Amino acid sequence: MFGFKLPKDFLIGTANSAFQSEGAWDRDGKSESVMDHYAKLYAGKPAPSGPREEGYTAGKKKTILTEDLPDRGCFFYDHYEEYIEDMQKTGQNTFRLSLSWPRIIPTGVGEVNPKGIAFYNKIIDKLVSCGITPFVDLHHWDMPQCLMDKGGFANSQFPEWFEAYAKVCFEAFGDRVKLWSTFNESAVAITSGYANGRFPPFGFSNKEGQLAGHHCLIAHFRAVRLYKSMDLGGKIGAVNCIVDITPARMVEEDLGAAARQMERMFGWWTQPMLEGTYPQQLIRECPYVRDNMPENYQADLDKWFIPMDFVGINYYVSHRTGYNPDKPLLSDRAESFYSTPGQSFAPYPAGLFDVVWYVSQRYHNVEIYITENGCALYNVNDPEKECDDPERISYIREHLRMVSRLIKVGCNLKGYYYWNDADSYEELDGYRIRFGLTWVDHQTGERRWKKSRHYFSQICKSRMVD
Ligand code: FCB
Repeated sequence: MFGFKLPKDFLIGTANSAFQSEGAWDRDGKSESVMDHYAKLYAGKPAPSGPREEGYTAGKKKTILTEDLPDRGCFFYDHYEEYIEDMQKTGQNTFRLSLSWPRIIPTGVGEVNPKGIAFYNKIIDKLVSCGITPFVDLHHWDMPQCLMDKGGFANSQFPEWFEAYAKVCFEAFGDRVKLWSTFNESAVAITSGYANGRFPPFGFSNKEGQLAGHHCLIAHFRAVRLYKSMDLGGKIGAVNCIVDITPARMVEEDLGAAARQMERMFGWWTQPMLEGTYPQQLIRECPYVRDNMPENYQADLDKWFIPMDFVGINYYVSHRTGYNPDKPLLSDRAESFYSTPGQSFAPYPAGLFDVVWYVSQRYHNVEIYITENGCALYNVNDPEKECDDPERISYIREHLRMVSRLIKVGCNLKGYYYWNDADSYEELDGYRIRFGLTWVDHQTGERRWKKSRHYFSQICKSRMVD
């Protein structure tokens, strides 16, 4: 082993999303998003209760939700120029951001807000002028609340609404944006949101969840079809979350349990998006899944399917699970078997190797971007300590060593995005968790580079990991 290198054309940078970073939630014509709405509705209150049947891992288990609101984020709306200049100084060659649908079309469908378009034009131009390739998500959980009032994903018109919104974005920004993703972590927005009550809109019906998910897939296909028909010369995919799930005991039953959990979180979205079918194992083995499938689902998939160009993977943690015939997925709730004091997620770097390798093998060496991976340290209300972050430095080192190994063994891995660029709003947790390479005072907007940003910068510039 002679060191860990990254290829010259490898995309390496940071990520953030609109509702988490921008702030300015009600300025310049933007309407309320789902994330604004539910943050306010349940601020400091218990999350709605219900059966939470799946024991499924995505989404958080919070009982009391944060009082913080995503009304400030990291003040990106007003300070995007400084942030992007910092990215340039860091030496990163890419940035993943999302567009806010309620900023672009405040009524969800219909009239476009010129100020919303102008804002993203400025960001994209600034990125391009700094030599930073934008990777743009159309939807990172923040659909206009007025559409959620009509059922959101569960409304059969959702695919039409989404395609119309996507068209506006492709027309406005497609000349400069060459890497697009339709949806971020549908497993969280939909399975956790509609079926397990862990995420807005806090629903508890698996039937509705699977229908909502089906509409999301059709919306995805329609946007991909439209994008391809416009011949803009870029690529389009989706970002799906993955947890490295392993069997709790060395028995075949637990292997099956782990496979079902992986399929439920990752395969449920990725397999249709790449191959046009739902994972058969879940349909075959779990009545909970089978009995709630939308009518004529395969006919819909046959009608709309078009393969996407790449898959984005968000990886944070590793869990284990065992066989349990009494649970909907015939498996126990998947839990982490590592713990790290002071961190909200327990890191397991080798899991990154395992999941990317798995996806590569399972999906015929598909093009992959690691679209999120990041170190979640609790806020300790001490800027000195928060900027001196050796835990985050080793997190980055160990995960990027895995990236280098994955490339070495032949995975078609094209990019890595550290989550996140700057301390921002975290859904359900507010400002009590810090992921950023840049430290932010959420009252005043003051910013500082953390030691981890200096470290990340060395990697970006040298294309090596120590
Ligand atoms: C992912 C989300 C992202 C962020 C990280 C920590 O699930 O995509 O918005 O909250 O987790």
